[in-house]
Amino acid sequence: MTTDQNFTLAEQLDRDDQLRNFRSRFYIESENTIYLDGNSLGRLPIKTKELLSEVVEKQWGTELIESWNLHWYQKPAQLGDKIAPIIGATKGEVIVSDSTSINLYKLAHAALKLQKGKTTIVSDDLNFPTDLYISQGLLKEFGPDYKLELAKTTDGITIETEELKSKITKNTALVVLSLVAFKSAFMYQLEEITEHAHKMGAVVLWDLSHAAGAVEIDLNKCNADLAVGCTYKYLNGGPGSPAFLYVRKDLQDKLSSPIQGWFGDALPFEFDLNYRPVEGIRRFLTGTPPVLNLMAIEPGIDMVNETGMKNIHQKSTQLSEFFLSMADSELSDYGFEVGSPTEPEKRGSHVSLKHDEAYRICQALIHPKSSTLKIIPDFRDPDNIRFGFTPLYTTFKEVWQTAQRLKEIIRDKEYEQFSTQRSEVT
Ligand SMILES: Cc1ncc(COP(=O)(O)O)c(C=O)c1O
Repeated sequence: MTTDQNFTLAEQLDRDDQLRNFRSRFYIESENTIYLDGNSLGRLPIKTKELLSEVVEKQWGTELIESWNLHWYQKPAQLGDKIAPIIGATKGEVIVSDSTSINLYKLAHAALKLQKGKTTIVSDDLNFPTDLYISQGLLKEFGPDYKLELAKTTDGITIETEELKSKITKNTALVVLSLVAFKSAFMYQLEEITEHAHKMGAVVLWDLSHAAGAVEIDLNKCNADLAVGCTYKYLNGGPGSPAFLYVRKDLQDKLSSPIQGWFGDALPFEFDLNYRPVEGIRRFLTGTPPVLNLMAIEPGIDMVNETGMKNIHQKSTQLSEFFLSMADSELSDYGFEVGSPTEPEKRGSHVSLKHDEAYRICQALIHPKSSTLKIIPDFRDPDNIRFGFTPLYTTFKEVWQTAQRLKEIIRDKEYEQFSTQRSEVT
């Protein structure tokens, strides 16, 4: 397809897009900014802006401490129940609490205790560093018999299912995996991996950070054990919004949180001097949540539920397929290589392009010198530019414009005007 044909196609796809009206429910300051980093920090829903001023002025300002009973105390469980359908869980199986890293620690620790006698954790070398750091920390805590086995990628993009399966043995206590890999967007087959792990007697803890709100997930259908995930990416909960955790119903009372905070006690306001974990999902709460961040999550989740994950996943696939087709027909002569799986069923909602000058190209997209168009993807070492497609607000025209800007930056060597010195946050 030519550039012009792709433009016509983009216009057609936008016209046919059933989700196109959701874009106006987000705060978009300028149509000249194309935001392709919703896989890192989702855009601000307009309703969140309004809600936060109510939370600050009415709830905190006027109702003060009464707001705990009126609005705040039940919110972690209420939000958990609203996240449940997004990930294929049941009410009472999900709760909002702490950060993804802390939730991963709590659930991984609890699983290792449950699996006493088995001493291996299995993960992969495409996993997000925090998942591996926490696993490494648990090895120190549980003792020298424990070890971490990593399935290895051969192409930097995917993990072969057989490679992963070969690492899971009868001695595997826990398998910790990101459903969608943060760099390449590679996506595991959740059901197949879970089933295999169960056959070997292992518990699986899924990190859904790059998947929740982007792809269809059915934890209950797959009999998944445990999961955690961020709310600030495709759920649009806001910077630093607390994370969610999922524990299958029948496992909840068999597991104990290693952080025995008072919010997980049966009756926190009795102030008993001895901890008595409450029954059910609340036992994985720790202490007072960051209320402003917590309250900010709801409008984003409501929008995802209103749209439905089937529709979201379908548009996500269309957006990335369109981008990949242009990567093939328009960008390959410009030194770009695809750093994501090309099969849609093996991919999340972002696409990575690799280039020797990836960092400086990314800078040129974000800080244009010769264009009125500002495009925000992000950069991941050593050579990946990640383009995150958020079906609720990304348009096909934006995807087309991004491909044209990439060509322009290379053709005019605009990236040469930028330093290779990395910013603190890339
Ligand atoms: C896959 C994955 N897991 C975990 C995290 C860490 O989350 P947090 O910093 O909220 O603990 C991230 C952050 O981007 C992530 O992408």
